[in-house]
This record gives sequence, structure tokens and C-alpha cells, in this order.
Amino acid sequence: MGVDSLGYVGLNISKLDEWCSLLEGVFGMEPRPREGSNAVDYRLDNYHHRITLYPGSTDSVAVVGWEVGSEGRLDQLATLLQAKGTEVTAGSIELCEERKVRKLYSFTCPMIGSHNEIYYGPLVTNTAFAPRRGISGYKTGSQGLGHIVFWVKDLPASVKFYEEVMGFDISDYIAWDIHDAVFLHCNPRHHTLALMKEGPGPAGGLMHIMVEANSLDDVGYGYDIVRDRGIPVMLDPGKHSNDHMQSFYLQTPSGFWIEYGFGARDIGPDWEIKTYDQPMLWGHRMVAD
Ligand SMILES: [Fe+2]
Repeated sequence: MGVDSLGYVGLNISKLDEWCSLLEGVFGMEPRPREGSNAVDYRLDNYHHRITLYPGSTDSVAVVGWEVGSEGRLDQLATLLQAKGTEVTAGSIELCEERKVRKLYSFTCPMIGSHNEIYYGPLVTNTAFAPRRGISGYKTGSQGLGHIVFWVKDLPASVKFYEEVMGFDISDYIAWDIHDAVFLHCNPRHHTLALMKEGPGPAGGLMHIMVEANSLDDVGYGYDIVRDRGIPVMLDPGKHSNDHMQSFYLQTPSGFWIEYGFGARDIGPDWEIKTYDQPMLWGHRMVAD
């Protein structure tokens, strides 16, 4: 029961040109403009798309899409959400066509306040991903798009919701300075979701999205491009204490961050939960705002 991976993310953005330049020039993602719409889908693997930009006047998370492996399990999860008091709406044929999935349900996350969708049957394409710069691609597959991190008002209740309803398991905990974070997995990726107690950021706010490269060189060359273009680096290159990801963090034109990483360790059958008192093994020094 529960979700299998982070499938897609949609973002309302106010600076389209800067966003397109970031996703294509730094991350090498492949734009797929839509006919009859100013939204832009971005591809980074064999899925039709994983990220959608919705140009407008505001910056916010438009949708977080969670993939479920079969229609039966999708329906079961929708029923469970309803039983736990979360209103669930079946997606229209038009919405499924826009998302390129066979079936979906939408709901507002009672903990984060984000617009969530659960779906199954995403469209994959036979043509190879055509990156906009020379990268080796992204680690996705059964591990999904990557991970996503939100600030929440009630950390214990939020963890309980994502464990008991959405089907996540706890990976580990990190508490440092004024930060308190819980890391959760739903597949071998160390964490697909992390929840942090509000304070450093506002409750319901998106802290960052992570995408994982197939090569450390992809990340290194990306770091050089970011520095050359003057894109704000928020955390210097470093390695995390819990998932062992080697990564750096940049600030997007919408304010929240993207972590560009490589080499995280997977969750295995003998995984044991640990608590850490700092998020990094080395590096990840905070760069001045
Ligand atoms: Fe992260």
C-alpha cells in the first residue's frame, strides 16, 4: 500500500526565461513545449516529462505527482485517503491527458497544504532523451524523479500521515542547530521525501527538489556553469551524512533550491534507522545569501 515514487512536479513560475535557461543550460533537461498552452514540460529520462513550468505572476508548487504501480493499488490508496478524512477527486480525461497518465486522483495534502496527485500508467517514449548539454543522464527508474523537501507546521503528525496513509518508511533523522528533519523512503532511494520543522522556512513551503545525475562529472560541470553564470549557490559542494549524496545546492528563480547530486547510497533490506547531528560529512558550507 502507498506510493512507489515521486513521479512529477509542476511549478507556477514568474520568470520563464530564467527557468528555461536553468533547466536546459545547467541541468541539460529537454523542453517539450505544448500546443495551445504556454506551459512547458521538461523531460529528463524516458518518461514523457517529469517537470512542468506554468508561467504566471506567482511562484509556488502547482502539483506534486506520486506514482503508484497499478490501478488496483491506486484505487486502494484513494479509498484510504478518503477514509482518513482527506477529500479525493478523480482526475478528468483532460487532466490525465495533460499529465500523460492513465488515471489519477488529486487531493490537498492535509499536512503540507500542497496540491498532490496520485496516478498510475505514465506515458514513456521510445525516443532517447536528448539532453541540452553533454550529460550522462539521471538516476530515475524505480527510484523516481528524485526527492522533495517541505517545511511543515506539525512534524510528528506530518510524518504519521506520510507513513500511515501514503506508505512511506522512515530512513533516518537529522537534528542540527535549529533544524529538525525526518527522511522517508518509498523505494530504494534513501529518501524521496524529507519533512522539516517550520522555522527556518514557512510551514508548507518547498525547501528544495533533488535530481541525481548518473555521473559526478555532470554535477561538477554543472557547478562550473552555475558559477560562470552567476546563479546563486546556496550550499557549496559536499557530502551528506545520511544518504552520502555528493551534491551542491543552487537557488532557483522562484526562491526555493535545487540540489544537484550524485552517488547516494540505497536503502537495503538490512537498513537500520540512525540519528545524525549534522547533515554533512564534509562541505555543504552555507554561502551568504
Ligand atoms: Fe536533499
